[in-house]
Amino acid sequence: MIAFVTTNEGKFREVSAKLLEAGVKIVHEDRSYPEIQTDRLEKVVRFAATVLDDQIRGDYLIDDSGLFIDAFGGFPGVYSSYVYKRLGCAGTLKLLEGARTRAATFETVFLLRTTGAHQVFHGACQGIIAEAERGRFGFGFDPIFIPDGAAKTFAEMSVTEKNAVSHRARAVEALVAHLRTQKES
Ligand code: IMP
Repeated sequence: MIAFVTTNEGKFREVSAKLLEAGVKIVHEDRSYPEIQTDRLEKVVRFAATVLDDQIRGDYLIDDSGLFIDAFGGFPGVYSSYVYKRLGCAGTLKLLEGARTRAATFETVFLLRTTGAHQVFHGACQGIIAEAERGRFGFGFDPIFIPDGAAKTFAEMSVTEKNAVSHRARAVEALVAHLRTQKES
């Protein structure tokens, strides 16, 4: 059984539902870990794993995600958590006023630890930043992100709808493909 280590209920809801569709069950390990300031999401999960390896016995999964806004050269990206806490959706919308483009990408990096090995999986979802906050589901920047091809923000979608297109769901798909190859070998 894989433990998904996160203090974010929303992430657990999405990942557990998507994995269940593939027949994979996970448990929630509600525990925080150090998140270093660095330039790449992958470095954040790789460092966190060096700490969690000593704390967790079995297989575990961690998720680091970020919102990369084109008009800001990819900011807040790895600093998304800090920007969300300080500015929230409203402050981010304010910063974007008059921007030349509202294009943005959500990215997720997963790290899976199994029997001493670390595997990393990526997922991305392109879209635009909405003109105003919409919706009451999800978490974080969900009310201001509209994935390409959709009319709704993530916060207006059910978990199933978000899981059909999201960055995190893409990372889950890569993880499932990996678990299948492990089973076959
Ligand atoms: P972290 O992966 O928990 O470090 O997330 C960084 C920031 O991005 C936090 O403020 C999260 O709330 C936000 N975030 C991460 N994933 C999502 C998502 O799927 N939707 C909306 N906000 C997200």
